[in-house]
Amino acid sequence: MASKNQLFEAKTEFIGTRGVREYRETIPVWVNAGDVVLELGCEWGTTTALIAPHCKKVIGTDISPKCIERAREMHPDLSFEVLDGFDVKAALELGEQFNKIYIDMSGLSGYRSLLDTISLLMMYATVLRPEAIIVKSGALKRFAAHCIPWRSVSH
Ligand SMILES: C[S@@+](CC[C@H](N)C(=O)[O-])C[C@H]1O[C@@H](n2cnc3c(N)ncnc32)[C@H](O)[C@@H]1O
Repeated sequence: MASKNQLFEAKTEFIGTRGVREYRETIPVWVNAGDVVLELGCEWGTTTALIAPHCKKVIGTDISPKCIERAREMHPDLSFEVLDGFDVKAALELGEQFNKIYIDMSGLSGYRSLLDTISLLMMYATVLRPEAIIVKSGALKRFAAHCIPWRSVSH
């Protein structure tokens, strides 16, 4: 029987994308008018700005203060914060009930970072409990495409 924690984790859907074109293609499909969206790894805010017209609120975040400075200059009407994506407590302290999370942090696409990617997704799914996390990681997409959840045959 699943534990209480496993049930919390099961609530979030994970969407693996490869490359920026696929990452952005998900926006009209996954982002709805009432959504509050967090982007981890927003760089200059290009994807954050594409998400903005589809949702109620979006906050773009990046570990680099220089990127955030530039994002604020380029999109003065949007919200941007410096944040290390691995610091889920800092994300929680943004004080928003994020129901969609976009993740495009450099280094998450290769197979060597697959474990880091999965731990990051599980951490956000457990703590922030969004409906969906859309992540740019070719390695995760390939891995997920080969996963088949076994379902027991009932007698
Ligand atoms: C490919 S760029 C993001 C592009 C952006 N999402 C877009 O669509 O225009 C990757 C970004 O991840 C950021 N990054 C790397 N490690 C990070 C971390 N631990 N937390 C947050 N951002 C991180 C980098 O500073 C860089 O700006």
